[in-house]
Amino acid sequence: MMTNKQSFPLNSIAVFDSGIGGLSVLSEIHQLLPDEPTIYLADQANVPYGSRPLEEVRRFAIAITEFFLANQAKMVVVACNTASAAALHELRLRFPTTLFVGMEPAIKPAAEQTRSGVVGVLATPATFQGELYASVIERFAQGVKVLQDTCPGLVSQIEAGQLETPQTKQIIEKALNPMLASGIDTVVLGCTHYPFVIPLIQEVVGQGVRVIDPAPAVAKQVARMLDHYHLRSPSHSSSPTHYYLTSGNLPAFRNMLMRLGFEAEHTSKVFWRGNSLTPVPPIDL
Ligand code: DGL
Repeated sequence: MMTNKQSFPLNSIAVFDSGIGGLSVLSEIHQLLPDEPTIYLADQANVPYGSRPLEEVRRFAIAITEFFLANQAKMVVVACNTASAAALHELRLRFPTTLFVGMEPAIKPAAEQTRSGVVGVLATPATFQGELYASVIERFAQGVKVLQDTCPGLVSQIEAGQLETPQTKQIIEKALNPMLASGIDTVVLGCTHYPFVIPLIQEVVGQGVRVIDPAPAVAKQVARMLDHYHLRSPSHSSSPTHYYLTSGNLPAFRNMLMRLGFEAEHTSKVFWRGNSLTPVPPIDL
């Protein structure tokens, strides 16, 4: 729990997503960088981002970044492919002294590893629309056939904790069966929510198809940036504090955190007021 008397630790790594998806990235950051304090923000008041206009998602990403910077974050990780597609470029222009790490679909490793020459990408409609995706395809997918699917409803199923239900499996089958028929041997997870259903995905595609989750590579990029700018936190005997914030339903978020194996000791709700997020509310939550 947090009160108005507490504030975030200085120099945290700040991570955000529309919902719980970015926790797949946060978990890799915790593993690789165990001394780093973190703040995670799930914008669950606005989830899903993937079917919204890019302009609107950009507005959310700017406001969340402002919120993080007001709370002294040392780096912002856009742990959301949709927000990266919509806003990463603009964020870097607007906040030129802030360090950002974003997501892009892992087409490069997929194109390097595929033997059949056919690769499937699962991502949201907004991610496929963004210029970032077009540029990744242009740079890395030469000579490879790339099939795409937006998996309608999958993000909402995952947000609702339906990680193993028949309905969730049906959505995955609908996306992947046609791709399997076209000969894919690699699936790229282009949405940070999807690693939470890797067991189902692997069940549908079988062991012969490789599923690429970019989260470990993103955590490595965070570590490289910290080293490059000499920003690593010194190691202490006690573990660093991790804060988890949501603009949505706090009890449901806390339950999900615990179910996914996070220590949900410091959780709080944040509030949208017009185009900005209010800081920690002045009440005991
Ligand atoms: N987890 C997000 C992504 O990586 C957002 C999904 C959504 O909100 O639609 O794209």
